[in-house]
Amino acid sequence: MSARMTHRVRSSLQPCEHPYLSGAWTPVFEEWLDDDCPVTGEIPRDLDGVYLRNTENPVQQPLGRYHPFDGDGMLCGLRLHNGCAAFRNRFVRTRGFVNEQDVGRALWSGIAEMPPLSDRPGWGAHGALKDASSTDVCVFGGRAYTSFYQCGELYGCDPVSLEPSGAVGWGGAFPRAGISAHALPDPQTEELLWFSYSREAPFMHCGATSLGGEVTHQREVPLPGPRLPHAMMFTPRWYVLNDFPLFWDAELLQRKLFAARLHDLPSRFALVPRASAPHGGRADDIRWFEASPTYVLHYVQAREEGDEVILDGYRQRCPSPPPLAGAPREHARMMAFLDLHSLQPQLWRWRFNLRTGQTREGALDDAVCEFGCVHVAHPQQAARYVYSMLGEPGWFLFNGLDKLDLRSGTRETLAFGPGVFGSEVRFVPRRAARSEDDGWLITLVTDVNRNLSEGRIYAAQNLRAGPLARIRLPLRIPSGTHACWADAAALQVPAPNARF
Ligand SMILES: [Fe+2]
Repeated sequence: MSARMTHRVRSSLQPCEHPYLSGAWTPVFEEWLDDDCPVTGEIPRDLDGVYLRNTENPVQQPLGRYHPFDGDGMLCGLRLHNGCAAFRNRFVRTRGFVNEQDVGRALWSGIAEMPPLSDRPGWGAHGALKDASSTDVCVFGGRAYTSFYQCGELYGCDPVSLEPSGAVGWGGAFPRAGISAHALPDPQTEELLWFSYSREAPFMHCGATSLGGEVTHQREVPLPGPRLPHAMMFTPRWYVLNDFPLFWDAELLQRKLFAARLHDLPSRFALVPRASAPHGGRADDIRWFEASPTYVLHYVQAREEGDEVILDGYRQRCPSPPPLAGAPREHARMMAFLDLHSLQPQLWRWRFNLRTGQTREGALDDAVCEFGCVHVAHPQQAARYVYSMLGEPGWFLFNGLDKLDLRSGTRETLAFGPGVFGSEVRFVPRRAARSEDDGWLITLVTDVNRNLSEGRIYAAQNLRAGPLARIRLPLRIPSGTHACWADAAALQVPAPNARF
């Protein structure tokens, strides 16, 4: 057995019954390395790369009330190569994390505490939070980058060793407001596309950065006021951004009370030209499209077809749900906003007609699901299959996965089993794939019954067969969310120059 603990971080967190500090969300404080994880079954030899997951794992006793989006970022990496698996976990060394390690306690309160109790100024749109870089992870130019949903710095590390390289500077051009989670690499242009939002006009920006760390394009996206966007998409010609009616109440905001309210407004989508002037472009070349009111956390694909830009994502049927029935009163509102069955996201398609300016929209499916992915050989292709996570009722936990065939409307679902929760699955194609779904789905699961965690690999064409491989991790990690897969070729890109 080659597992060893490499480090234990300094923690002041006391065990408690908080629903997101116990059970499947019980945090850990150790960093482990296992370069030869025990495997039950067989890891396909085609799988050569790393599955990276970022998720909140708080290490300090909260200042005030805890929300699960407040926790420190912890990366978990499952390296698959030649039929073998290696695992490593490492906390993201953000400036906030390091400062709190130095003093041994929390210095920032979280989003549930209004007005904030933070001892120091914070980062991002909220302004009083720790930038935990805990939301998302992507691999670009041979490095992994973690990001924060309220906007913050972009922290780099080696995607295999997870050795940190600090926050990017982009030659002094990194946005002052930080950038949001869900920056997206565009493999066609070798750019990282990103957006940021803030409480200062014009309230949103987007841009592109090259492999060399040069900001090649950025521009303002004027909004009527502060908004709370979460994700973006892109096509060859457009950034796809949004302005949803769920945003901070303006009057309360003046008193530093950050309360998201659903306003009586339509949804709006912005198509922002990628080819406008490098540091400008006219505000009137942004194409705005109205749609029915909602909120969307995540999208799965966008493409251009004739006069239309077509966007698929998870439209919430109930973006401002009532407090969760049966939950402890002090947590009921927070728990409803984390529960997929309260928010009721469903796969939805918006069609933005560039010639008429009209939007057509409609459901692709009725199932409650989120956190999905697709695979196409070429980015302008329409994916036939969507792989989504299924939610444990009442909880921010994924209890299974769903494969939807958009062509036939049929689906295959897989339950992880009682007390077993997975992170966002990523699809990896077989090297000589003969169809779109010829490949594997990878996730990390936490089994609260057995107090252990596993990597799991499923054949995407036969979910019912169960996992092809179960990879025992050296520690039980908390349940998790966003993840990415980087193929071996993506790990071998030379590290970008010093501007990153
Ligand atoms: Fe997200």
